[in-house]
Amino acid sequence: MSDESRPSPAEMPPDTRASTRTAAVIPAAGRGVRLGPGVPKALRALGGTPMLIHAVRAMAASRGVSLVVVVAPPDGAAEVKSLLDAHALPERTDFLVVPGGESRQESVRLGLDALPATYDTVLVHDAARPLVPVDTVDAVIEAVRDGAPAVVPALPLADTVKQVEPAAVPGEPEPVVATPERARLRAVQTPQGFDRETLVRAHETVTDNVTDDASMVEQLGLTVMVVPGHEEAFKVTRPLDLVLAEAVLARRRLNDGF
Ligand code: C5P
Repeated sequence: MSDESRPSPAEMPPDTRASTRTAAVIPAAGRGVRLGPGVPKALRALGGTPMLIHAVRAMAASRGVSLVVVVAPPDGAAEVKSLLDAHALPERTDFLVVPGGESRQESVRLGLDALPATYDTVLVHDAARPLVPVDTVDAVIEAVRDGAPAVVPALPLADTVKQVEPAAVPGEPEPVVATPERARLRAVQTPQGFDRETLVRAHETVTDNVTDDASMVEQLGLTVMVVPGHEEAFKVTRPLDLVLAEAVLARRRLNDGF
């Protein structure tokens, strides 16, 4: 099929995707200690709804996604399952809950292990990015279906970035080692999209501790492609991010006319 005639994921009817099925894996097994004490980060409420439910809905909003696998805290899988049952989710999408692991990497691998063989494209999306717009999700899926082994959404940086020699004691002054050229840097978001076979191979091969899945594919020697990210796809990490997330939700409600 030529690029011109290829339908975007948004245009595809759910029943004609047999050869290009996409599943989303949401690692949600972290405690989120930087957000302060309390319930695990993914279960914190935003606009009265748990952050995880927002993230699940953000993936299911794409007509290209027909399965969402949530990786829950190891001792919280039953709780997460009832949470999903208690919230309205699109009927065309299936949901699975699996217990997570010690690290984000292990949690993603456990999610991948649970995927039926019929899925050949996989998104990995942080539960901590609850507000990613559907256009960003669709752009990632489309770039994978166009042949990229791995795709990340990313934004240019507002801040200049310095590489430092980390101080032994946090808070102590740190010497600058280098200043990378800002115009060539991007801040990477999720969902990150993968050819399934490539991501499975990356998880089998790369044992270093990494902070995102795409860097594992880079370590295989493959090229990861960047598509434009979105400012609303930010990661809820610190208390101020919760304030911003509530403001984004309030703006959406206003724009939707509620
Ligand atoms: O800690 P960080 O913000 O990088 O976590 C990113 C995502 O990975 C979060 O959604 C978190 O719940 C998830 N995670 C996980 N299993 C872990 C640690 C983190 O699923 N053991």
